[in-house]
Amino acid sequence: MAHKVQGIIARGKGQPVELTTIVVPNPGPGEALVQVQACGVCHTDLHYREGGINDDFPFLLGHEAAGIVEAVGPNVTNVKPGDFVVLNWRAVCGNCRSCLRGKPQFCFSTFNATQKMTLLDGTPLAPALGIGAFAEKTLVSAGQCTPVNPKASPAVAGLLGCGVMAGLGAAMLTGEVQRGYSVAVFGCGGVGNAAIAGARLAGATTIIGVDLDDRKLEWARQFGATHTVNASTTEPIAAIQAATNGNGADVCIEAVGHPEVLRQAFYARDLAGTVVQVGVPTPDMIMPNIPMIDFFGRGGTMKPSWYGDCLPSRDFPLLVDLHLQGRLPLEDFVTETIALGDVEEAFHRMERGEVLRSVVLL
Ligand SMILES: NC(=O)c1ccc[n+]([C@@H]2O[C@H](COP(=O)([O-])OP(=O)(O)OC[C@H]3O[C@@H](n4cnc5c(N)ncnc54)[C@H](O)[C@@H]3O)[C@@H](O)[C@H]2O)c1
Ligand SMILES: [Zn+2]
Ligand SMILES: [Zn+2]
Repeated sequence: MAHKVQGIIARGKGQPVELTTIVVPNPGPGEALVQVQACGVCHTDLHYREGGINDDFPFLLGHEAAGIVEAVGPNVTNVKPGDFVVLNWRAVCGNCRSCLRGKPQFCFSTFNATQKMTLLDGTPLAPALGIGAFAEKTLVSAGQCTPVNPKASPAVAGLLGCGVMAGLGAAMLTGEVQRGYSVAVFGCGGVGNAAIAGARLAGATTIIGVDLDDRKLEWARQFGATHTVNASTTEPIAAIQAATNGNGADVCIEAVGHPEVLRQAFYARDLAGTVVQVGVPTPDMIMPNIPMIDFFGRGGTMKPSWYGDCLPSRDFPLLVDLHLQGRLPLEDFVTETIALGDVEEAFHRMERGEVLRSVVLL
């Protein structure tokens, strides 16, 4: 029998989100039904509500979640009922060009659940990032469930499901930050501060946080920034050069999603350094106008980073373990915990820059 539970949906472009009853089918082959315990509010949920991702309304929002597997369908071997899992949006296929090349973290053919969750009248819902976890229960592909140590709190573990993983991975995996590196992070929201925490964990000795908001820079210092720059009053390229003996940073991470910030990251980088683009641009944005001779002449690499280039089955358990050992303060990203009905207000607090993460507890 299908399950009738409460969930948060976005019915139309720019409309406030709604708490309503949704219908979640029992898991079919390869699927898992998850009782959601916690789900963070990510900027991408707001992008969905604003019609910035696509027009497949109504959406079932929420995708940064942890919970308990309640039931699994036929042919599921990676999880069983009772497992504590973090949900991911990279259930790898094992068969595409990238998986066959031994690079499943770039899988070109990831899985979501096959069956649809619906409204009471049968209208199919489009789950955000194939997850839809602002709901008491959700249906996902079993590969979207990554078991982790159940000693971690759901509010904290769930953060690895999106933004915090994207930031940690932007530094540690895409940017390949090494011991002794200098790293500059542009945008110190949840993603940027996770990049700062990742740079510290990887052994960076100079970490420069750049934002327009002093509150965010205060958080950046907590997560490990050795220097901070308020770009609304100080030109960030010169400030980063000044903090790195005039050279620029080895790795510059753009965690805003804006061409002018990408330009700053490009010029604030040392010769042969790396620029990582983890902030998500809108479709109208174009690359900054950089003379090609500068691109060629400075060497190094520019890399976009989706989900921090993570492989959930490899990275979530180890990051949870580092957290439980006191080496990764994931709890500091949780600014507040809220109820399912408070998501709309949490979007407004996010827009006003008052939170790193609001986390819905169920
Ligand atoms: N690549 C991925 O897989 C992935 C995953 C999750 C989120 N994201 C994206 O990462 C970006 C950041 O997400 P977030 O949750 O941290 O958002 P956020 O809104 O919490 O943080 C963005 C920060 O950038 C700052 N900022 C804005 N303009 C700036 C400028 N010109 N210079 C410096 N700082 C500036 C803001 O003050 C804010 O602190 C978003 O674009 C989000 O969609 C990407
Ligand atoms: Zn694949
Ligand atoms: Zn997200």
